[in-house]
Amino acid sequence: MSVHSKLYEGKAKILYTTDDPEVLLADFKDDATAFNAQKRGSILGKGNINCSISSQLFQQLEASGIKTHFIDSPNPNQMRVKAVKIVPVEVVIRNIAAGSLCQQTGIELGTVLKQPLVEFYYKNDQLGDPLLTRDRLLLMELATAEQVDAITHLALQINDFLKNFWHSCGITLVDFKLEFGLDSQQQLLLADEISPDTCRLWNTAEADPNRRVMDKDRFRRDLGNVEDAYQEVLQRVLQAVEIKS
Ligand code: TMP
Repeated sequence: MSVHSKLYEGKAKILYTTDDPEVLLADFKDDATAFNAQKRGSILGKGNINCSISSQLFQQLEASGIKTHFIDSPNPNQMRVKAVKIVPVEVVIRNIAAGSLCQQTGIELGTVLKQPLVEFYYKNDQLGDPLLTRDRLLLMELATAEQVDAITHLALQINDFLKNFWHSCGITLVDFKLEFGLDSQQQLLLADEISPDTCRLWNTAEADPNRRVMDKDRFRRDLGNVEDAYQEVLQRVLQAVEIKS
């Protein structure tokens, strides 16, 4: 596979075109940002770790019947993916109250939600990725009503699968963000990544509110030991996958 030109550089990944117009190469970076890139840094080894975790999770999801953009991972920090047109909506699924949900509603950190909450945010850095209502999303024609329904259904299915998978790793899935894309046949595929950058993951066996954090909140909140936490998540994922197979 020959790699052509840089198509897009985001905060955590670079996308390259390849000799096949249906295939892109995603290069995962060690760069880390938070708070809409107001905070910048780097997490040593993050590119490899997030690419490996995402690759494993996409394969597990595919095996359970969820269609994703994943093709394969030719190098530790590189993933070949199906070219899709990204729906410019960040889909956040919450099982336990944390982060902006607590800040914006006053719900106490750690409150277990009676049912998963699915939220949509407009993927637009200039506007600071604002929370959308369904009607605003439709008004802005970011997706059709049918696509919103399909995305919501998929997000809940993915949540069910991932909650169980992370549970088998001794990790509690607090919340996470998904992105979806449309392929050349207008088929919805799960895209982007699933990693400690995009999930809140708590060590189930640890009660301490800072020590239990195994995700990017360690970087966002300067909790230290960021690399160790990411590495530990990868080890647990690899172990869980091995036991499953
Ligand atoms: P929030 O509580 O800050 O809204 O974040 C909810 C989830 O979404 C959390 O698991 C982190 C993830 N997330 C991203 O992946 N990218 C983002 O830009 C933001 C703000 C959150």
